[in-house]
Amino acid sequence: MQDFSKPGVRQQQLMAEAHRHMPQGVAENYRYWGDERTVFVDNAKGCRITDCDGRTWVDFRLGYGPIILGYRDERVDAAVIKQITQGGTLSGFATELDTEVVKQIKAMCPNIEKMRFANSGTEAVMGAVRTARGYTKRDRVVIVEGGFHGLYDEMMWKSDIEHWDPQGRVAPSVIPFGGGIPQRARDLVDLIVLNDHAMLEHLFAQQGEQLACVVLEPIIGNAGSISATPEWLQRLRDLCTQYGTMLIIDEVKTGFRVAKGGAQALYGIHADLTTYAKAMGNGYPVAAFGGRAEVMDVVGSNKGGVVHGGTYTANLVALSAAHATLNILDQTDALATINRVGDEIRALLGRVFTAAGVEHAFAGPPAMLGIHFTPDVPQSYRDWRVTNSDLYRDFAWRLIDYGVMLEPDSREPWFLCEAHADVDLGWLEEVATRAMREACEASVRQSR
Ligand SMILES: Cc1ncc(COP(=O)(O)O)c(C=O)c1O
Repeated sequence: MQDFSKPGVRQQQLMAEAHRHMPQGVAENYRYWGDERTVFVDNAKGCRITDCDGRTWVDFRLGYGPIILGYRDERVDAAVIKQITQGGTLSGFATELDTEVVKQIKAMCPNIEKMRFANSGTEAVMGAVRTARGYTKRDRVVIVEGGFHGLYDEMMWKSDIEHWDPQGRVAPSVIPFGGGIPQRARDLVDLIVLNDHAMLEHLFAQQGEQLACVVLEPIIGNAGSISATPEWLQRLRDLCTQYGTMLIIDEVKTGFRVAKGGAQALYGIHADLTTYAKAMGNGYPVAAFGGRAEVMDVVGSNKGGVVHGGTYTANLVALSAAHATLNILDQTDALATINRVGDEIRALLGRVFTAAGVEHAFAGPPAMLGIHFTPDVPQSYRDWRVTNSDLYRDFAWRLIDYGVMLEPDSREPWFLCEAHADVDLGWLEEVATRAMREACEASVRQSR
């Protein structure tokens, strides 16, 4: 029996040492889970991660979504090794593979006519927004409450849902994600509420002709997969077309995951520009943005052209990984396997919650499953505020202690990969039942 309930000996040593060298002792903010809980991974294979003390978890976090096949997928790794040992990593010149990967994406995503590469989701969003501004010759940008579009200043504004009174009449205030973000970066950004028709109509009636773009995740991967209704998304598409505003669908999480053609395939609605990252490289750092040829053709070094580039853009580690991953996703039934296993997991969790008398609603597709302790499926980030996220958090921590890794915050969905097909679902149901029962008992004790 593995003991997950207290920090491992090696974990404590590594944490203490790391504190001397990095802020909070981690390489990026989101990895710090407290001194006792921060996980130091030693290795990962399939759908499992093993930490520095030899404890193994079945992982539904998957590095926030990039792992779509499984960790250390031999088919992808072999392609990357072949590329770097026979062709090199980068030269700062064009390669045949650049076009090959774009052709693969175009075959899967009919919304793409032309494309450029990037190294991260953040960079892809920056490229798409700049392209939209270059094309429209407008500056204003609209984002949706609860969405996340990377770590650059203009996208780092959010509604302060945690301190908002859902019973009051006042909208949540808009705050920066943290320090170091200049107030000026807010000046050109507006926030709207998902599925709020009146707010959408009002925004375009007031400002439609100044809006360069609306950037959104129709399935909000950063708000528990709360999803746009088809009607609302269609109305947004129509208004963007009417006012010449670019619709940017951020498929950094949904792309090559929820369907071969991403969220746009599920909705049958096409963006003017789309961003991709995460699943397109099964964990290798690769990203891209693209869309209508007429729009993308403003990118270039001709006078007034939109600037795009970077030393590591389309490096061959990234592109060979993308080439292999996309080939597998296109040619095999990997995504069908993920959907099947995700459906089974949703059903078993539903049984667990029902047996414990916990009101629950699932959001989003099985490949990125949102779980909310509330009777009705949330329709916007504001609805998430009235879910029982404390109970979810307690349930999640207990599951982690039983060997199931997930994000304790219900705003992060459960991510699935092809390798989850080998998980013993009987075991998962048993540990989920125990975790849920214990969380409910603790909640009753606290309320006494
Ligand atoms: C929808 C979305 N867009 C953009 C980003 C930023 O991507 P990256 O972390 O690769 O910069 C993320 C990251 O989680 C995301 O979920």
